[in-house]
Amino acid sequence: MKCDKNGYFGEFGGQYIPEVLKPAIDEIKEAYSELKNDEDFQNELSYYLKHYAGRETPLYYAKNLSEKLGGAKIYLKREDLLHGGAHKTNNTIGQALLAKKMGKTRIIAETGAGQHGVGTSMAGALFGLETEIFMGSIDIARQQPNVERMKLLGAKVNPVNTGSKVLKDAVNEAMRNWTATFENTHYLLGTVMGPHPFPTMVRDFQSVIGKEVKKQIMEQEGRFPDHLVACIGGGSNAMGLFYPFLGEKDCSKINMVGIEAAGKGLDTQEHGASISKGRKGILHGMLSYFLQDEDGQIEEAYSISAGLDYPGIGPEHAYLHNLGRVEYDSATDKQALNAFMELTRTEGIIPALESSHAISYAIENAGNMAKDDIMVINLSGRGDKDLNTVINAVNKMEN
Ligand SMILES: Cc1ncc(COP(=O)(O)O)c(C=O)c1O
Repeated sequence: MKCDKNGYFGEFGGQYIPEVLKPAIDEIKEAYSELKNDEDFQNELSYYLKHYAGRETPLYYAKNLSEKLGGAKIYLKREDLLHGGAHKTNNTIGQALLAKKMGKTRIIAETGAGQHGVGTSMAGALFGLETEIFMGSIDIARQQPNVERMKLLGAKVNPVNTGSKVLKDAVNEAMRNWTATFENTHYLLGTVMGPHPFPTMVRDFQSVIGKEVKKQIMEQEGRFPDHLVACIGGGSNAMGLFYPFLGEKDCSKINMVGIEAAGKGLDTQEHGASISKGRKGILHGMLSYFLQDEDGQIEEAYSISAGLDYPGIGPEHAYLHNLGRVEYDSATDKQALNAFMELTRTEGIIPALESSHAISYAIENAGNMAKDDIMVINLSGRGDKDLNTVINAVNKMEN
């Protein structure tokens, strides 16, 4: 999907920003539109993705899980094996390189699960950029190992104690900081949200996932998959998987599914399902779907996985939902925990709780699919960061 020159996907997206940020956004737009087609920049990016981050990541046929579920052949795109432990590194290396080219000396970022914070801190260390991370104090408490990693990598981690003290509030604080510092600072946004050009730029950096899947599935199966599945926080790992397949004639029948966090249930107030339960609104520089009360106040999102509790979704997803091109489903905390255990025990792979939401789709549906159906799930990250959360949740369920 292409956005228009003002960054709109249909009615979604745009640039809803304070006047003071216009020069900063214009600078990024200009630099990115130049570097996107610059061979030297793309070669440098590919170099770091390959030799530093470890691309390409494997596309692994999960034979045990497929046989146990008894239906579709399930393949896992192993972004959990990327340096840093999640897909976030694709984007942080891309944007940190861009920041260098723009002459910036400092990068800032928001983080929820801490994966984007770790990815940003790694890129900051690699490229010699001063790094500051904004993180809700609730997320700091539940993602301690990642907080320690960021600090070890030399980043300053700023606890955010405003609002609900989670991801949405961390974005607010990072944007506020950027307003006063953009002359030397790049805001390294972590997903396909925010004002134009962030949604397209982050999508482009993450598209390496889908490009590799296309090549790898052709090598292994000689054809494209029937189903593509990814979890959705803001939507970057999903866009990275879907985008290279969108708009291709022979891919028009591929069933693409984004899995939002249903938390404690869609009929409760505790979930992160912005497409299923949200309404159109404006926040963080874009028009999209957001969880809101009757007065249009943004509601708190909730998920057991810190990376999925954002109360909105990237504008390209909102557009794909309205077009009916991508199906948006959801998984509860309980389903995600079950999927976490299932993958761990059947394949010996400990997935991130975020990615477990996508695995849950396979557990619910693969058994009803034909045996020659091919499903590719984006295993967006590894679960080491979630061990405490999972152990506590399992103990609670058992007592
Ligand atoms: C492992 C992992 N997967 C998925 C996500 C969700 O982000 P996105 O929807 O941008 O891919 C996160 C966010 O922190 C994450 O850490």
